[in-house]
Amino acid sequence: MNQRLLQVLLLSICASACNSSQAPQETDATGQLGGKVYTLDELQVEDAYELAAEIQLPAVPPKDFPDLHNVYTLSANIISGSEPLGEDAFAELETMGVKTIISVDGKTPNAELAAKHGMRYVHAPIRYNGLEQEEVSRLAKTYRELEGPFFVHCFHGKHRGPAAAAVGRVVLDGVDRERALAEMRQWSGTSKSYKGLYSAIASMPFPSAAESAAFDWDFPEARPMEGFRQAMVEIPRLHDNIELMADNDWIVDPQHPDLDALNEATSLLSIFRQANKLQEVAERPAEFRRLMDKSVEENELLVQALTAGDQPTALKAFESLQASCKSCHKLYRNDR
Ligand code: HEC
Repeated sequence: MNQRLLQVLLLSICASACNSSQAPQETDATGQLGGKVYTLDELQVEDAYELAAEIQLPAVPPKDFPDLHNVYTLSANIISGSEPLGEDAFAELETMGVKTIISVDGKTPNAELAAKHGMRYVHAPIRYNGLEQEEVSRLAKTYRELEGPFFVHCFHGKHRGPAAAAVGRVVLDGVDRERALAEMRQWSGTSKSYKGLYSAIASMPFPSAAESAAFDWDFPEARPMEGFRQAMVEIPRLHDNIELMADNDWIVDPQHPDLDALNEATSLLSIFRQANKLQEVAERPAEFRRLMDKSVEENELLVQALTAGDQPTALKAFESLQASCKSCHKLYRNDR
């Protein structure tokens, strides 16, 4: 979209949003709500991504540690990044002064290790397709009522984590939504594919401090999940391990000596098979079920090829499996 068109669009959004009695409140001096709120009707979803380019942030490279990546200190209160893996990563967060870690990933966080380093874990998972009102309320309450600084993470620290950090930037730091969106896009590198995350930060009503106080939630350190979603928490981890080895010509990486391609592929297969038997999968559309069956077959081929030591075939099987992951996400995950 060209600059002028965008300006016109922004003006027209303000003209209608600012006059509408239903429009959420504008920023107040205490930063209860950050800036204009763009309602979904007024804002094409794509435009939330465009909006994230409106404010030009200085280029800032992320901080990277061996087991902690894409780290951005967004304010004195909020740091965003990948899942901390292992002792050193938690020690690093402790050094940064972090008091509360918020995980929005599906996997149960390592609360014990966090506690060992004097930090509290809060598990508030969100999805890639956007945020639900309840999820925003949990995040807002956490930012307002627990002790900061906060470290907010998902798995890779690029998409969901930065969106959750953006909620904090608005409700705790009082920045405008455009600013929070700009940080997602220009710093953390949140993908354009995750339109729902961008539109949530642009347009969802965030609770006031009074609403947060009244919201009933007790900051659990682990929120158990069952069923398909649980499978989709385990699957990417195994997938990423296999990918690491595939990229390395199936040679065991000395940095990850405990990884074994066949072992990982076999674990992945057992989860795909279990997931494929779930009632909720049986109730999904035919195309969804076809992609699940296809994934199981491709994973079987991968296991066979690795067992036979046939690396080129293993690579082909893995690549078609990855294509199935993408096809299914495109249809059933990235959009509302
Ligand atoms: C048949 C459809 C389908 C296939 C195949 C599939 N996924 Fe998913 N995946 C989903 C859906 C739907 C979700 C969203 C689940 C939810 O949040 O309820 C999801 C969620 C995820 C998530 C986010 C989990 C979280 O923490 O919330 C990741 C990562 C992921 N998938 C990776 C993969 C990988 C890697 C593969 C292939 C090895 C794969 N998926 C194959 C449908 C699929």
